[in-house]
Amino acid sequence: MPHAVIAQDVSSVEVRAVVHAAMLSSTPVQVVSTGAAGIAGAHLELLRAPGTLAVGSVEFLRAAMLAAGVDEPAPMSYPVELKRSMGREIHQVTAGQARAGLDHWPWQPDGRGISPDLQQPQGVAPANPGDRRSAPGAFFVKPVATKLFTGFVFDPAAPAADLDEHDREQRQVFMDLPAGELVWVSPAVEFLCEWRIYVSAGAEIGRARYDADGEDDAPIPNSDEISAMINELSPVQPVALDVGVTSGGRTVLVEVNDAWAIGLYGKALTPARYTEFLFERWQKILSPAHNPAIAAGFADHPRATSPGFRAGKNSARM
Ligand SMILES: Nc1ncnc2c1ncn2[C@@H]1O[C@H](COP(=O)(O)OP(=O)(O)O)[C@@H](O)[C@H]1O
Ligand SMILES: [Mg+2]
Repeated sequence: MPHAVIAQDVSSVEVRAVVHAAMLSSTPVQVVSTGAAGIAGAHLELLRAPGTLAVGSVEFLRAAMLAAGVDEPAPMSYPVELKRSMGREIHQVTAGQARAGLDHWPWQPDGRGISPDLQQPQGVAPANPGDRRSAPGAFFVKPVATKLFTGFVFDPAAPAADLDEHDREQRQVFMDLPAGELVWVSPAVEFLCEWRIYVSAGAEIGRARYDADGEDDAPIPNSDEISAMINELSPVQPVALDVGVTSGGRTVLVEVNDAWAIGLYGKALTPARYTEFLFERWQKILSPAHNPAIAAGFADHPRATSPGFRAGKNSARM
């Protein structure tokens, strides 16, 4: 357990779990009530002290890293080691290129760029036939820098008015990005369910389903596939593997998330185990040598510069 906790003054599941675990072990908790900016003020000494864990949103922990003078770890998303487990081609392009549409590049609209078992099975109608998400020119887009916006299926031909509120907000942030900002693009995949697998010391420590809208009787992910992913990645630090079962029945990687500002779902971990998980990662982040080790394991792409979170909220988590 940490010696002390600095907690953002929000009542998220994550903050509540850590505060709960701290209380049970008589660990002092300092609540920062002045928002993300507040952490740079009165709490600097505590923040930098070895044994302190900071917990809160992406924005809060970003402010904590800035205040502590350490770099934000490079985003993970799609480690090269897991290429096979992605089942789809994933490319990095600029926001300007993506906004112009990807009809003929980097994959063809006939479905090349996606493995055959991820395509809609023959004769099976898409779950939602009128859905613009399966429109021919649509593709999935997400930022390379952590959480500039949440990934969504972008159809250059669709008027923003056709989208639900969440996708419309994400689309707006994406449309407003500088043309040179890097984004990931990939063919749109239909996930029947999504699960988060918490991994520490190279082994699974818990899992929970996290998609809110899926069917209750959706298939469960294939555990052999998950074990293979953990083995292929062999992470030397705590990570969360997000996996999904596609409409073709295959278990694939959705994305890999680093273990800071990481969401806690269901009963995947006890508050104490979740706190340990975060603390193991946070200690490395605060030690100045953390970045080279991560870059060696994960980066096959240029480091993203982070212009900051722009979706206007202070509650993002991974
Ligand atoms: N290729 C894809 N096609 C369609 N939907 C996708 C695709 N990849 C991810 N998604 C959906 O979008 C959500 C957000 O994507 P994710 O990669 O987790 O990005 P973020 O960093 O925003 O969490 C996922 O939880 C999943 O539901
Ligand atoms: Mg995600």
